[in-house]
Amino acid sequence: MNQEKVIVIDFGGQYNQLVARRVRECNVYCEIYSYRTDLEQIKAMNPKGIILTGGPNSCYEDGAPTYRKELFELGIPVLGLCYGAQLMMHVLGGKVEKAPIREYGKTEVMVDTTSPLFTDVSEKTICWMSHFDYISQVADGFDIVAHTTDCPVAAAQNLEKNLYAIQFHPEVLHTQEGTRMLHNFVRGVCGCSGSWRMDSFVEQSIQEIRQKVGDGKVLCALSGGVDSSVAAVLLSKAIGNQLTCVFVDHGLLRKDEGDEVEAVFGPEGPYELNFIRVNAQERYYKKLAGVTEPETKRKIIGEEFIRVFEEEAKKIGAVDFLVQGTIYPDVVESGLGGESAVIKSHHNVGGLPDCVDFKEIIEPLRDLFKDEVRKAGLELGIPENLVFRQPFPGPGLGIRIIGEVNAEKVKIVQEADAIYREEIAKAGLDKSIGQYFAALTNMRSVGVMGDERTYDYAVALRAVNTIDFMTAEAAEIPFEVLQKVMSRIINEVKGVNRVMYDLTSKPPGTIEFE
Ligand code: XMP
Repeated sequence: MNQEKVIVIDFGGQYNQLVARRVRECNVYCEIYSYRTDLEQIKAMNPKGIILTGGPNSCYEDGAPTYRKELFELGIPVLGLCYGAQLMMHVLGGKVEKAPIREYGKTEVMVDTTSPLFTDVSEKTICWMSHFDYISQVADGFDIVAHTTDCPVAAAQNLEKNLYAIQFHPEVLHTQEGTRMLHNFVRGVCGCSGSWRMDSFVEQSIQEIRQKVGDGKVLCALSGGVDSSVAAVLLSKAIGNQLTCVFVDHGLLRKDEGDEVEAVFGPEGPYELNFIRVNAQERYYKKLAGVTEPETKRKIIGEEFIRVFEEEAKKIGAVDFLVQGTIYPDVVESGLGGESAVIKSHHNVGGLPDCVDFKEIIEPLRDLFKDEVRKAGLELGIPENLVFRQPFPGPGLGIRIIGEVNAEKVKIVQEADAIYREEIAKAGLDKSIGQYFAALTNMRSVGVMGDERTYDYAVALRAVNTIDFMTAEAAEIPFEVLQKVMSRIINEVKGVNRVMYDLTSKPPGTIEFE
C-alpha cells in the first residue's frame, strides 16, 4: 500500500508488537522490521519516522544488536525506546552503563513539557520503567527532557536532527500518557496526517483489488477461519461474482467443521458467494502416509491445497488470481519479514509450490495483525461469532498430530478436541482464553483401565493467552476443569489413556505443535 508509514526496528524486546499497535491506534500505518534489515531497504520504504524498540541486551557488549550510525543521518525522525534509546546514545557518542539502581515498574517521571514529545503531557507523569542499564551521558547535541529520582536521563532529544530517546516504555498502558507521547512523535514530530483507519483499509483494499483484478476471475481459498473468511468477504464486496470460493475439506478439520463452514458460506448462508466444497480427505491421507517431518507435512498439505485449487480453477476456466488470508504474523514467522529466522513455513506462505497456475496471488490481509483482521471483519459486517472464532491453522489437525497423520489419529484428536472445547465453554472460559485445542502426541504409554493393561496415546491440551499470536502464555485453567476434560477424554475417546496440559509459553514454544 502506498501510504505514509512508520517503521519500527525490532531489537527483540517483549513489547515490540505493542509499539506497532499503538502507532496504528494513532491512525498511522506501521510495519515492524528486524534490526538486521539493511539500511537501503529501510530508506527505500520512505518512512515518515523510525522507532527503535527495547531489547534484552546491553548495547555496549560485544555482539549486542546494533545499527549503523547512518540511520540517524537520513533526516528521518527517529525515536529510541529503552534499549533503542540507549543504542542511539551509544552509537552517537553518549555513554551507557549499568545503572547503580535498577528501575522496574511504575515510576514518576518529571518531563519538560516544551519538548515536542511531551506536548499536553503532565509535568509529573507515571511511566513504566524496565531497565538495568542507563544513559549516564547523552551524546553531543542532545538535551535531557525527562528524569526520575534514580534516572538522570529518562528522555533526551536532539531537536535539530529530530532524534528522540525515551528510557521508559510509552507503548505499555502502565505509562499513563504513553499513547499521547507516541501520538506526539508520529503525528507531531513525523508529521503523519493520521489518515489510516480500518474503514480506509477496507475501502482502499476494495479499490486496489478492483484495479488489480479488472474483469479477471478470482479463486479464493476459504478455510472458514477468521482470516480467509475476512479475505473472502472483502473480495466478494470488491468483485462480486467474479469470485469463486473453494473450501477444501482435507480431512484435517475439527469435528463437524466442514458442515459448519458450508452452512455459513454455502448456498443456504447469508453471503452471495460462488461456493465449492471439495472433499479431498482420502487424497490427503494418502499423501501424508508415512510422513513424520513437520516441515514436510506442512509443505505437502500446502502443496496439495494448491493442486486442488488448480484443478478447480481449470473447471471454472481462465482463473487469473488466487486469494489467500495470509496475515502479518504468518509472514514474519515464515521468515519473509521481521526477524529472519524461519520458525515454521506457514501454510501457503513458505509452503507455496514453485509452479502455480495463476497469474498472481492476492493477500489483502498481509500487513494486518489478527486483532486488526477482526476489526476489518466487523467493518465488513461479518457476524461477531465468526469474527471472534477460535483461530485454526491452514494445515489443520495435520500439525496437531505429532508424527504420521492417519484417519484413526484424526478421529482421536477431533473427539478429544470437541470434548475440550465443550468443557471450556461450559466453564465460561471460551471468551477469555486466546486459543485452546487438543493435540495428539506421538507418545504411547502403558496404562491400566478396568484391570486391563492399555498401551495408548497421550493427548496434550493446549490453552494460551495472547494478544497477537507472536508471543503467548499458557492460560491458567482451573484444575477441576482440566480434570473433567481428562476424565471425559479417557472415558469417551478410544485409543487415549493419558492427558497432559502444556505449560509452555511462546517463545520458547510455538502455539501449535508442529
Ligand atoms: P504458532 O504455532 O506459529 O501459531 O505459534 C501462531 C498462530 O498461527 C496459527 N498457525 C497457522 N495459521 N497457517 C495458518 O493459517 C499455518 O500454517 C499456521 N501455523 C500456525 C496458530 O493456530 C496460532 O493461532
